[in-house]
Amino acid sequence: MYQERVLSGMRPTGSLHLGHYHGVLKNWVRLQHEYPCLFFVADWHALTTNYDDPHGIEKASWDMIVDWLAAGVDPAQATLFIQSQVPEHAELHLLLSMMTPLGWLERVPTYKDQQEKLTHKDLTTYGFLGYPLLMSADILIYRADKVPVGEDQIPHVEFTRELARRFNHMYGREPGFEDKAKAAVKSLGSKRARSYEHFRTRFQQDGDATAIAKAHALLDEVENLPHEDRERLNGYLEGTGKMILVEPGYLLTEASKMPGLDGQKMSKSYDNTITLREDEASVTHKVKRMPTDPARVRRTDPGEPERCPVWQLHQVYSDEACRDWVQKGCRSAGIGCIECKQPVIDAILKEQAPMRERAQTYLDAPGLVRDIIADGNDRARALARETMRDVRAAMSLDYTR
Ligand code: TRP
Ligand code: SF4
Repeated sequence: MYQERVLSGMRPTGSLHLGHYHGVLKNWVRLQHEYPCLFFVADWHALTTNYDDPHGIEKASWDMIVDWLAAGVDPAQATLFIQSQVPEHAELHLLLSMMTPLGWLERVPTYKDQQEKLTHKDLTTYGFLGYPLLMSADILIYRADKVPVGEDQIPHVEFTRELARRFNHMYGREPGFEDKAKAAVKSLGSKRARSYEHFRTRFQQDGDATAIAKAHALLDEVENLPHEDRERLNGYLEGTGKMILVEPGYLLTEASKMPGLDGQKMSKSYDNTITLREDEASVTHKVKRMPTDPARVRRTDPGEPERCPVWQLHQVYSDEACRDWVQKGCRSAGIGCIECKQPVIDAILKEQAPMRERAQTYLDAPGLVRDIIADGNDRARALARETMRDVRAAMSLDYTR
């Protein structure tokens, strides 16, 4: 049976921190047990904004991969690869660029936003404008059904959906499509063919979207349906021609609730992070130096947890009994701040211990990481090639036929 495919990418930004862990990575680790997953390093995306200073990108990529592995992303479950090592992404990007209206790119909200924000950079480049299209190529080349992204990336997935629809509409109209589609329906066998026709009519006459979903599910169950016929049957449902590219959906990744050392959101740009594999002494030191309720000047002054960034960490890491102890002890000046911080330090170190251990295995044998990625690149490339074969054929670039 066909299983929905998950794909996500991350820019190589250097060492990841606990905010990434509690936001994105824990989510990936969960998803890898539920779906076939592809996770990749978006190194070309880093170039769209760092084209003037590219030499850190490669090291940042390897470091980030070790962080993924440390967090529990499992290469036996998910395919891990590097974007630039699958050059088919660039070919699809180019071919899609032929049919992408300029206005669609100019209207993507991050385009103007980022240009205004990153004023120290000249982002009036072709690559930067095309960045959402590159992301579309990343997604469409794997026919991904689900794309886990943060809220800021949702417009890019929407853009990708529109693009896939436009592509299928424009290039999915092969000569004799109707007849070929009808023959494919027949090949399903009479029982399935009847259900398929029923769902198709329900959608085309009444616009019933659940009927479409049911029909897709029905096709997913058919084992040895030739790929060409699957495309035809999917497209015939909606009346668009062959469905060569799949419209992806998104999975919203909840923003991480992980506070930084100063109580703001944890972020490299605020310089308030604890990295994923930070050494124990440094973690201890950083938490000990954290500011607390500014009204609590002396040990004997009562404090208010709501005004204290350490309390926010207790909300992530501590159980109810401990949180109770903090609330009472702080407000009555029964405990001191040093005492209050200790359970947080212990909890962070405990969370990091398995990550540090897993990372060590890879740091001791960097060849392991290279092998994992070489294998992932190969697997990703095989999938990408399949899609490109169909895309080339649809755009009349099939010279080997
Ligand atoms: N643009 C994403 C970001 O900046 C990274 C990314 C690139 C991505 N290609 C992707 C995410 C494809 C999901 C799917 O965070
Ligand atoms: Fe913050 Fe704990 Fe000190 Fe209260 S006792 S101010 S919660 S560190």
